[in-house]
This record gives sequence, structure tokens and C-alpha cells, in this order.
Amino acid sequence: MINEKIDVLIVGAGPSGLLLSQLLHLEGIDSIIVERSSKERVLSRIRAGVLERGTVNALRDAGCADRLDAQKILHDGVILSFDGEQFNVPIKMLTGYDVTIYGQTEITADLITACESRDQRIFWSCPDAVLADLKSDAPSAMFTQPDGEKVTVHAKLIAGCDGYYGVSRQSIPSKPSDNFERVYPFGWLGVMVDEPPVAHNVVYANHVDGFALASMRSHTRSRYYVQTAPGDTVEDWPIERFWTAFKTRLGALGDGVKTGEPLEMSIAPLRSFVTQKMQHGRLFLAGDAAHIVPPTGAKGLNLAVADVRRLARAMSAWKKGDSNGLERYATEALERIWKVERFSWYLTSMMHQFDEHKAFEKKMQRAEFDYVVSSEAAQTMIAENYVGLAF
Ligand code: APR
Ligand code: PHB
Repeated sequence: MINEKIDVLIVGAGPSGLLLSQLLHLEGIDSIIVERSSKERVLSRIRAGVLERGTVNALRDAGCADRLDAQKILHDGVILSFDGEQFNVPIKMLTGYDVTIYGQTEITADLITACESRDQRIFWSCPDAVLADLKSDAPSAMFTQPDGEKVTVHAKLIAGCDGYYGVSRQSIPSKPSDNFERVYPFGWLGVMVDEPPVAHNVVYANHVDGFALASMRSHTRSRYYVQTAPGDTVEDWPIERFWTAFKTRLGALGDGVKTGEPLEMSIAPLRSFVTQKMQHGRLFLAGDAAHIVPPTGAKGLNLAVADVRRLARAMSAWKKGDSNGLERYATEALERIWKVERFSWYLTSMMHQFDEHKAFEKKMQRAEFDYVVSSEAAQTMIAENYVGLAF
């Protein structure tokens, strides 16, 4: 039986929890992280790879951006494609900012390296954490280590960084009206392949057969996706079927695709989700524990980092006796969260094929694309959201 007393207990060792522990450490605030999965499993996850300026700055402030700065690729535009017609939104010309290409898997590895270099205590492979006394001034978490030893951690604050399926949000009493969700009638099949990317910028393509996305991890490793029907599994998509669909949906650009055997194939569902209850007593939610965005627009990690940056600043002020930031955390975080939810929903709605759409809705999608192509104002809206709203 281990009994600990600590400033902050962090539930979850994904990007949110790891970055929060690093930022708190730099402010002299000790934390303990409890993680359901093994370190190997956390390090093996493949997620997105487009970073907003604020995310890069946060990683630099955390002292975890050396490899990022050495390996990054900068993009000054993002390509929208409609039935094979392409338009490059000049995001840097319109906003002054690039987006940075660097995989989330690498960010997680960099953050774990930083944690281990300062002996951050992370309890890996502890799937049974239970939170208690959240409204008291000594909330706690109980969990069991792989060797069967029971651990109770008493903390002054708890950060719920345990994602959509975590225990933290479930520990907060809520009404149906506190939560907002849209489940999209399709998924994304993702493929990682060690071949040069088909385009110099990320390509979002709407085609009559469905959506496709061409991204990358480096100049020799590409990350590609196609929209899939509800209920599709990876088994429904032999790699030949994927390549045919992907190349078709990119139009003429598809002729330049270098195919190969996938390093990884997986299907993810798409949803928008927000809980308004980002705080309950001494528990504060950050990242996917509080919200989910569809991956169109690459906002999941960036939105998580924005929460963590805000929460770390608030916890640092609290440590110095000023709890105003914590009291305003949920309200202020949600103000930006809803704007990012809007952009992710907007791009998803514009760029995917919906079974329920009739001719009129399809015309509206095309008209939106044509409006963007013809209007610098419309391009600027996309650009300022894609490079990231200030935080
Ligand atoms: N107890 C402890 N840890 C848990 C529990 C639990 N009950 N439930 C989940 N976890 C862990 C998960 O194993 C995971 O490592 O919490 C972590 C949550 O990480 P993410 O789901 O990655 O969420 P977050 O850190 O907020 O990062 C958001 O990651 O999933 C992507 O698309 C998402 O890019 C976004 C980013
Ligand atoms: C990726 O590189 O995996 C990626 C890029 C852009 C997105 C989603 C995913 O919108």
C-alpha cells in the first residue's frame, strides 16, 4: 500500500497529461501520472501530424522541441480539392504563419523522454483508477499496480487527461444538456507507407466516391486516408482497394501517388463532442477527456495543447495563491473549444460525401468550394483557423 500526497495528480499519459506534467515541473509543481496502458502501447499510437503555431510554441516552452525543430517540415499552404480541381489556400501569405508537420507519435516520445530525464513518476499499466472526494480539498485516486500493490494518491488538484473513454469525465455528475455530440455517418481508413508524399502540402479532397486526405510524416513517409462507410472494417479494405480509391479521389494528382505495402492500416470513427463540465471541484479536464473533433483540420492534438497550456498557467498561479485562473478555466477554455469545433465541423461538412445529401446539399458543398476559391476573405477564415487561433 503506497500512500502519496502530491500537488497534482494527472490521469492519463497521452500528449495532454505528459505535456501538463512537464509544464508544471518547470513551474516547480510536482505531479504523479497514472496511465491505464503500458508505455509501449502509448508510444505505439499513430495519430495526426499537423501542428499549429501555438502547439510548437508550447513544446518549445516545455523544452521538448529540439527533435521537432530538427526534423519538422513547414507548410505555407493547404490544398482543397473538389472532384479533382485543386486550390492551394496560401495560409502563410494570409496569416504570416506556417503549419508544422511532425508526428504526434514523435511528440509523445519526446515528452516521455523529458519525463524520464527528470524522474517523473508515471504509474504505467494501471487500468482501474477510481477518483474520490473531488469536492473536498484532498481529492484522491486509488489504483492497482501490475504487481497487485494498491496505491492511493491524495492530491490538491486532479487533471483529467485520460481521453474520451477515460474515468475522469465519468467522475463528474452531469446532465444530458451538459454534453453536445454529433457522430458522423462515416469513418476514416488511415494508411502509413514509406513512400514520398504525393503533394508538398496536405490535400483534403472531396470526390463523388468520398473524401480522401494526403498527408505525410517526412519526405519519405506518407500518411493517407479515405472516407469509409459506417461499419467498414480494415478487412473490408485490402490495400489494393485502398490505393484505387485514394488515387481516384485525388483526381489527376492521384496519378503521382507512389503506392506500397502499408506499415499500418486502421479505421477511426468521426465525431464532434464537447462537455461543458470541464471542472468538478478539484478535478479539471483537458484534451480529449473534454472534447473530440473530427480529424478534418487536424485539431485534436492542437486543441488539447491549448487546454493544457491554459490549465498549466492556472495551476501555476494557484500555487502562488491566485486561484482566479482555475475558477475561469472551463469558461475560457470552452470559448476557444467551440470555435475549433466549428472549424472542424465546417471542413468535415464541406469535404465529405453524406448519404443523406440530395442534389441541393451537394450543390452547397461545391458552392462553398467555389466561394473559397474566389474570395480572399473566405480563404483567410480557413487560413487563420488552420494555422491556429491564438491561445
Ligand atoms: N486511467 C488512466 N489512464 C487512462 C484511463 C484511465 N481510466 N483512460 C484512458 N487513459 C489514458 C489513455 O490510455 C491515453 O494514454 O489516457 C490517455 C489519453 O490520451 P489521448 O486519448 O491521446 O488524449 P489526449 O492526451 O488529450 O491527446 C489528445 O490524442 O488521441 C489523440 O486525437 C487525439 O490528437 C488528440 C490527442
Ligand atoms: C495526418 O497527418 O495524420 C493528418 C493531417 C491532417 C488531418 C488529419 C490527419 O486533418
